Amino acid sequence: MRIELPREAERFGSNLFYGVQKIYELDAGSSQDTEFSSQFHVVHKISPEKIYEVESQMAIIIPVKNERLKLLEGVLCGIPHACLPIIVSNSTREPTNRFRMEYNAVDNFCRFAKKRYVIVHQKDDYFSNAFEATHYQEILNEQGMVKNGKAEGMIMGILLAKFLGKKYVGFIDADNFFPGAVFEYIRIYSSTFASANSIFSMTRILWHSKPKVIDSNLFFAKWGRVTRITNNYLNRLISLYTGFETDVIKTGNAGEHAMSIDLAMLLDYSAGFSIETYHFINLIEQFGGILESKHPDVMQNAVEIYQVESRNPHLHEVKNEEHIKEMIEHSLSVIFHSPISPSELKKEILRELKKLKIIEKENSPIQPTTYKALQSIDLHKFFCKIDLTKYCNFSTN
Ligand code: GDD
Repeated sequence: MRIELPREAERFGSNLFYGVQKIYELDAGSSQDTEFSSQFHVVHKISPEKIYEVESQMAIIIPVKNERLKLLEGVLCGIPHACLPIIVSNSTREPTNRFRMEYNAVDNFCRFAKKRYVIVHQKDDYFSNAFEATHYQEILNEQGMVKNGKAEGMIMGILLAKFLGKKYVGFIDADNFFPGAVFEYIRIYSSTFASANSIFSMTRILWHSKPKVIDSNLFFAKWGRVTRITNNYLNRLISLYTGFETDVIKTGNAGEHAMSIDLAMLLDYSAGFSIETYHFINLIEQFGGILESKHPDVMQNAVEIYQVESRNPHLHEVKNEEHIKEMIEHSLSVIFHSPISPSELKKEILRELKKLKIIEKENSPIQPTTYKALQSIDLHKFFCKIDLTKYCNFSTN
């Protein structure tokens, strides 16, 4: 892959928020290019060997809830062979057992692809028992099961990846129509990790475009409604601290993102669809130098946040207006309720939510549920409770 070096970076404490990078070639060939030995080069060329090395240490976590099986199969097809797919399903089991259907589809696909996989269900009591035993009850509902939500599924996936010895975790939604886009996102993850300087790194995808049909013509929209708003307030937060207006953040809601496992175990998470926005907030809370950091070792390092623009358009299932409003409220609430949120920013967020008729006059945005960093979990104790042989297929590769 041939990928532009970041042109700019906004430094916030130990965090390095890089500006958006462009892809120049999805496949940059195998021959060595003399340009790359010059200190003035402006693009990285990442060799297939380096990409393979990272991908063989990467788990791709696919959260799924009642998606069409054809889409899930397309997503699997787009995952490079060396990566391990971990599917975390919260699909219904009654009256139709959709999880069983997913399991059969994944097993069948991976048999033909000669690929290993892991598939688990969010509501399996193995998991609730394991969370209970390791004092991570905040993720459980009143019935003692893991709560509904994409973030909760992602957390389970991260723990599985860590347990299986993976160095990187990438996330891909199960409702992506284009296997080629999935493949590109993962190649972006592996290329950025192959050239990262820090072991604490994160890569977020900026979709090239989201095609829509308008008046019988295809229109390639650049910005989603939620992302536009979230980016604005994340950039305002940075600007209010640095005193310089910035628009560096372009991926405030990036569902498609990846992290080194070292970073994934250190971050706190928030519930549901606010998880991606909260990554930024928690990075600033933990490593921004405003609050005291629990990780002075990380503060001595850099935490690198890459944002890369894909070339494939992104096409996924269309969601209704209520869902969009809920996502806006959840995203802005994690900014609003953060101890690092300046009062000026809080006022602006309240005005925005009222203008969009998401909250009423005297109300505040909902208090987000947050989950403490996964490094507090005793993994050995956790995985004693889980019989992975039931779910995995490690017999082929
Ligand atoms: N395991 C699990 N549990 N998966 C879930 C759950 C759940 O409770 N709810 C949803 N999912 C899965 C969906 O099946 C899909 O694969 C993925 O999570 C994303 O859910 P969508 O409902 O399709 O989200 P979206 O398309 O509105 O938003 C996506 O893009 C946003 C950026 O525009 C998500 O990735 C957001 O997190 C992201 O911010």
